[in-house]
Formats: sequence, C-alpha cells, structure tokens
Amino acid sequence: MRPRVRATFPCETPALALVAGPLPHASGQATRPSPTAMSSDTKTSAASMEKIVSLCKRRGFIYQSSEIYGGCGGIWDYGPLGAELKRNLRDIWWRTMTREREDVLGLDAGILMNPAIWKASGHVDTFADLMRECSLTNKRVRADHVEPQDGTVLRYSAAHAPNGWRWDRPITALLKNGEHIESFRKRVRALIAQNAGEAAGKPEEIELLDETKTDVVAGSVDFHPETGGLLGEARPFNLMLKTYLGPTATEDDVTYLRPETAQAIFAQFKNVFDSSRVKVPFGIGQIGKAFRNEVTPKNFTFRSREFEQMELEFFIKPDEAVEIICGEVAPWHEGADLSEPQPNWGWELWHRYWVDQRTRFYQGIGIGNVLEYYWQTPEDLAHYARACVDILCEFPFGTEELEGIAARGDFDLSQHQKHSGKTQEVFDEELKNAAAKLSDEQKEALIQKRLAAEAAKTKGSPLPEADVRAWFERLFKGNYVPHVIEPSAGLDRMALAVIAKAYEEFEKTDDKGKKETITVLRFHPRVAPIKVGVFPLLKNKPELVAKAREVYALLKKHLNCFYDETASIGRRYARQDEVGTPFGVTIDFETCGEKGPELQDTVTLRHRDGGEQERVKISDLLGKLLPLCS
Ligand code: GAP
Repeated sequence: MRPRVRATFPCETPALALVAGPLPHASGQATRPSPTAMSSDTKTSAASMEKIVSLCKRRGFIYQSSEIYGGCGGIWDYGPLGAELKRNLRDIWWRTMTREREDVLGLDAGILMNPAIWKASGHVDTFADLMRECSLTNKRVRADHVEPQDGTVLRYSAAHAPNGWRWDRPITALLKNGEHIESFRKRVRALIAQNAGEAAGKPEEIELLDETKTDVVAGSVDFHPETGGLLGEARPFNLMLKTYLGPTATEDDVTYLRPETAQAIFAQFKNVFDSSRVKVPFGIGQIGKAFRNEVTPKNFTFRSREFEQMELEFFIKPDEAVEIICGEVAPWHEGADLSEPQPNWGWELWHRYWVDQRTRFYQGIGIGNVLEYYWQTPEDLAHYARACVDILCEFPFGTEELEGIAARGDFDLSQHQKHSGKTQEVFDEELKNAAAKLSDEQKEALIQKRLAAEAAKTKGSPLPEADVRAWFERLFKGNYVPHVIEPSAGLDRMALAVIAKAYEEFEKTDDKGKKETITVLRFHPRVAPIKVGVFPLLKNKPELVAKAREVYALLKKHLNCFYDETASIGRRYARQDEVGTPFGVTIDFETCGEKGPELQDTVTLRHRDGGEQERVKISDLLGKLLPLCS
C-alpha cells in the first residue's frame, strides 16, 4: 500500500525479516503436477523476466506501447490473449467482490474529477516520490531505487569545446570498478554533450579540465545508476499527471488523471448510500484505470504509468458504535472465526476478515502459494491508519507488493466532509436506540476511554477534549462518519503474477533423441485466456472437420475456445500449452462412429496438466468443463 507521502517511507519493498511466512496451501488448491508427467526426460527452469517478456510478445499477451515509434515509457498494451486474461481477472474480482456478496455495490466513476478531490485527499500536497537528479544529464531517479555502487570518484573543474562552448561548473562522476579510464572519459563527454545539445559540437572534441581523483567509494548511493553522474539532493516530485479540463487550458483549468480509483468512491459515498438503501457495514467496489507519473517505471508492467486498479472501500461503524449496540467489541485472536461477519466486529476483525477474503481470492486463481504478508509497523503507518498489510507475491525480480489492505479510520470521508462542506455522516437508528438506554456514567466511561486513547497517540495530534465530546454527542444521537477498510489491488500486477506463477519451461527428448525446450503456462482454468482448444485429428477428412466445427460452435458460446486444424496433433497441443489452455478436445475417427457405435459422438478430452486423456460424450462436455472454468 503506497503511503500518500513517500518521503517518510522510502523503502517500498519491505525487509523480508518483517514478513510473516507464506500462508499454508489452501485445501483444494490445484497442486502443480510433476513435469515428468509430460516427458520422461525433463528439466524445469524458473521463469526469468526476459523469458516472460519474450513469451508475452511472441504469443500476444503484452506489447510495448507505441513500439513502432520507439515505445512510450511505462505504458503497455495487452494483445488478444492478454486482453482475455485481464478480462477474466477483472470479472472474477467483480463477481467475487460485488455480485456474490449482499453487502458490496459497484461504481464506475470518471477518470477526471474536480481537482478539489485531490486537494482534500492529500494527493496535491503529498503524493510524491523523493527524487534525485543526475548533475550531468538532469535524468531523475527515485531516491530509494539507487543501487549501491563501488568505484573512484573523479572530478573535473569544467569542460570546453573548440567552438567556444563552455561548461563552467564542476563535473563529478563515478569511474566504476573495472571500467577503463578512457571509456569513462568518453562516456562523460557524451553525456555532457547530450545535455548541451548541438551547442557543444562533437563529443570527442570536448576537453575535460583538471581531472582529479577525489575519493574511492564502496556501496555509494550518490551516483546515477545509468550515467554515473553525481546525484543532487533528494526532492519530492508529485506523481499525479496534470491535464486541462476546459477550452482555455490555463492554470484555472488544471485537473489530474486519477492516481487511484478510491477517491471517487469516497466522493460518491453519500450518493450510493442514499440511493441504494444499504446499511453500514457495506462496501463500494470499483475497477478502473489509474495514472501515476512514476519516476522509474520498471519490471515490465509491475510499475507502470497507466494501470488498472480494483479497489473496495468497505465502510464500517466506529468501534464505539459497535460497543454501544453490542455491549462490547469482539477482540481479534489467533484462529478467530473469520468465515461469517458478526455484528460485534470492530475494525480489527473486519480488517483481518478482508485479509482472509483476499487470500482466498488469490488461492482461487492459482497463486495462493506464492504470497507473503507484510504487516506495516506503527512507524510505517500513516497517522490516521490503524493497520495495513501488504500482500506480497513472488515475482522473478523479487517478492513485491500485489495488494494493500488498510484500515484507514474515518480519515477519507472526514477529509471530504471538511473540504466540501457536505456532511458524510450516516444516521443509524439502532445506534440511537441503544445509546438512549445508556446511563450518563456509561456514556462518560466511553468518552474517557476515547480520551485516554487520544492521549496515548504517538502520531498526529490528539483530538482536543471538546472535539471528542462533540463527536460523542453526535454518536449518541445515531450519527457518525463511517470508518473504512480498503483492499486495493492492481490488475496489471495480478496479471503479471499469474503469468509468472504459471510459466514453466522444460526440456523434452523425442524418440529420435532430439532435445526441445517446451514452455507451458499452467494457468488456473478460471483465468486462462483460452479454455479449450478444439482439434479435428486430420484436416483432410471432411467428416472430422465438420464434427469439430460443430463441437467448437457448441462450446464457444459458453467458453473462449480456439479452433486449430493445422500441423500434427502433438504440435497443436504444444501451441495451446504455451498459451496456457487447460483443455484440448480432439475429434477423431471414434467420434464419427468408425470404431463402434458405443464411441460415436465421444471426443478425446486432454488435460494440459498431467497430459491425461479421457473419452467424453459431446453432450457431457459443457457440464464437465464449465464448473472447472468458472
Ligand atoms: N487507494 C490505495 C492505493 O492506491 P497503492 O498501494 O498506491 O494504494 C494499490 O496501490 C495497488 O495498485 C498496488 O498494490 C498495486 O497492485 C497497484 N499499483 C500501484 N501503483 C502501480 C503502478 N505504478 N503500476 C502498476 N500497479 C500499481
């Protein structure tokens, strides 16, 4: 979970020492079959990012945006299979988080909103990364992304060119260990020429003046990782992408492409509440594009500038309201039953519940066993947040955040209440009736408990007593601003995690001793872009082709299928394995009744994982495949 202000939390990848171990495998989760099931002579190798990027392009999952024009940093396009994969993930999230629940509603808000929203949320003032600028090229790098480097620090007093051009300030750069001094000088000339543009003339003619060795460094983070130029002081850099809304395109028209989908949910909270006859606790979910001008987009789609989020804001009663209604707030303990929400749950059990729900979600798409959890420490947490857990996933480049689940108190709605002047309170009849039964002593005890909690705060300023008393006065009348639990996931990261987990490569030796490297994507059938490959055994047998077309037409109304009649059946299976198709249906001579009437209208159903084959009646196919794929 990205804090709104990065400056106070420089380390995005938490130290693994603080990470709790992976959850045990979910019961019923598909286990990866031994690759030996596919060949007698196999050697698997782990996915590397290079191999994943290459497969994604080759098979139409993900392409570089604007590739024919040299690309567009941090933006990616999803090809035919990537679009299907993403759609499946999006649909599963939407179904699981909204349609299958009685207590969550959906929202589809605009990407552009009134910029006052971003002021209220804190994004205008504090949604920033700390950045450092290269003194030779002005290239920026995120302060927490500078790899430690070893080498010798060289300094020049200035640089001149024969055409009169001058660089009259000191140049400091790192000669990396093992780098030849001449190639270093050539690099420095090229970099300052690039910075100066045409004015400096040819880089090789630039003269570097008064070279001195100033230091030998080990593990230094003061030099740009690519250029080697000395980095300036760290400065905040706002990540929101600015644009203009309106014809004049002046500063008055500035707004932002949303950096998260969450704020629209907060801004529309009252409308949803008033128009949907819901009661707290309930949630609002939204899926949509978000934009961040990431300083160093990297690791393929993992950190992009345009991406999609799937966010839920789940609104709950303040713990004090739960205590008034139920007499007490149920405490969380290890092994607590999280299966069914209870009226006496406070924020802590609700937070644990959502961590559990989200874990089950990931188990349901086949990546449950590559997750880890990072519970933010009190020092990590924003002053208003009560708890935040990052669900991390094992990617080829390391274990990184997939989703954050935060207990954010009433901060967001209160901010919008304050900035918009419109109340975000709800009225709770049950609370009002329960509060009416409390004695003055009981009420005072609640107030004193809250005052003690305020006094014990180590972050932010405690609420003054008068404000606490005013808040309780409203609460005893049944009014409060709901608190929120926010599970916030990235769709692009999820797709990448699913691809990385599914990727498997092994070597196969055929009957003639020829070795071949085989790639298989072991997607869970629910997320696989193509669910079934349909193959006539031979393409020159019209009766097989006609039957195969019939089966294809039957299945494709319900499942994304791929029809293929070219090449050997083994080659066709391999092609589908490479794009992660979990099932293959082959129409053969048995199907046409040539091997006896009992096999007529049956097909061979091949399972990608394990490679086993079974005969299934065409009329039973959908009944068998649909539950496996949904
Ligand atoms: N509303 C809370 C919020 O936006 P966040 O941790 O900044 O929190 C939530 O983002 C999720 O969005 C992350 O866990 C990640 O999956 C995804 N995400 C954030 N920045 C991203 C980026 N630059 N590229 C791809 N996904 C990103």
